[in-house]
Amino acid sequence: MAPATALIIGATGFVGGHLCELLATKHPQLRLLCLMRDTTPQKANDLNKLNPSVEIVEGTLEDSAIISAAAEKVDVVIHVAHSDYAPSVQAVLAGLRKRASTDSHRTPIYQHMSGLGVIADNVRGEKVDFVKEWTDVGFRLDDCPKDNTHLASDRQILEAGTRSQDGIQTAILFPGLIYGHGKTPRSGAWVPFYSTFAKAAGHAGTWGPVEVSQYCIHVRDVAAAVLCVLGYLLEDATRGGSDGLFFVTSQEPTMSWRKINSVLGDILYARGLVRVPGTQPFPEGVADPLGHYGWSLLGSNGHTRADRLGGLGWNAEWSKKEPLRDVVNKMLEIGI
Ligand SMILES: NC(=O)c1ccc[n+]([C@@H]2O[C@H](COP(=O)([O-])OP(=O)(O)OC[C@H]3O[C@@H](n4cnc5c(N)ncnc54)[C@H](OP(=O)(O)O)[C@@H]3O)[C@@H](O)[C@H]2O)c1
Repeated sequence: MAPATALIIGATGFVGGHLCELLATKHPQLRLLCLMRDTTPQKANDLNKLNPSVEIVEGTLEDSAIISAAAEKVDVVIHVAHSDYAPSVQAVLAGLRKRASTDSHRTPIYQHMSGLGVIADNVRGEKVDFVKEWTDVGFRLDDCPKDNTHLASDRQILEAGTRSQDGIQTAILFPGLIYGHGKTPRSGAWVPFYSTFAKAAGHAGTWGPVEVSQYCIHVRDVAAAVLCVLGYLLEDATRGGSDGLFFVTSQEPTMSWRKINSVLGDILYARGLVRVPGTQPFPEGVADPLGHYGWSLLGSNGHTRADRLGGLGWNAEWSKKEPLRDVVNKMLEIGI
């Protein structure tokens, strides 16, 4: 039975916009409840243009009661807002557990977007001779360095998806560096993040000398991966949990954070927003306040193969058509 309703958390975002548009094409019958903060007519209209089945649920990730109540009403929840905000994950799981206990017709589905921070090698922005390339075939969260980012939320989701009494199908997607153009003028979470730090420091920068990189993936391929995994879960209600873990990366050439921030520094300098062009390592006073979170996420390598998605017929077609190096300039221009 096809799902009738879905809750999208993060619909107005870089990934969320492409996802909503793709859902309109592939699942036009699906009624979409979309959590939205700071709602304006413009924001609501932009989303409705991408998918006419959208209904706005006003609230933020901090509004656990609103998220739980919305999750309880739907067949599918897709969370593409934040990999690390655990209360929002708990609220989704609480709502879906209630749904599972009252509706025996369909096992509710939860897809969560995490990231490659889980497998970070914690080299503190230093060049190393060997970087492990991970596969998601046989991948377990227990294989990851235990203090890595995202894991706190991911473990809760995995646990819910493996406990038979919860009755929830879960999947966690781990994209690498997501790039491309958004459906609205925004460019993914890392662009404003690095820009904000650069403006505060007076120069673009990195965590460490940073010849480190994550494998990259085009935003349209990420949206297609979400739909591919949704199809996989819908085919068989016993799927999910420990077989619901998917890397989402391409094998196309990526760029190190140092190279990306060098381009960013030149753009910011041309706009008079920093004192010098190019990039240099951020001083301790800028990098250290983010603590292990910053070093682990931004001073590490993340190299993976999306072997399981490949086995399901997904391929990174947009990453081949529009490689990172061809769009990085424009996406930084738009996103800062
Ligand atoms: N971008 C990457 O390279 C990358 C890499 C790996 C993993 N990820 C993960 O992939 C997911 C999507 O990333 P993205 O780049 O699409 O992010 P994004 O463009 O920053 O979008 C985030 C979305 O979540 C919403 N949101 C954020 N905080 C919220 C809050 N407190 N309350 C309500 N809504 C909130 C935003 O709403 P507004 O429109 O109001 O801002 C937006 O819709 C995230 O889980 C991210 O951690 C991203």
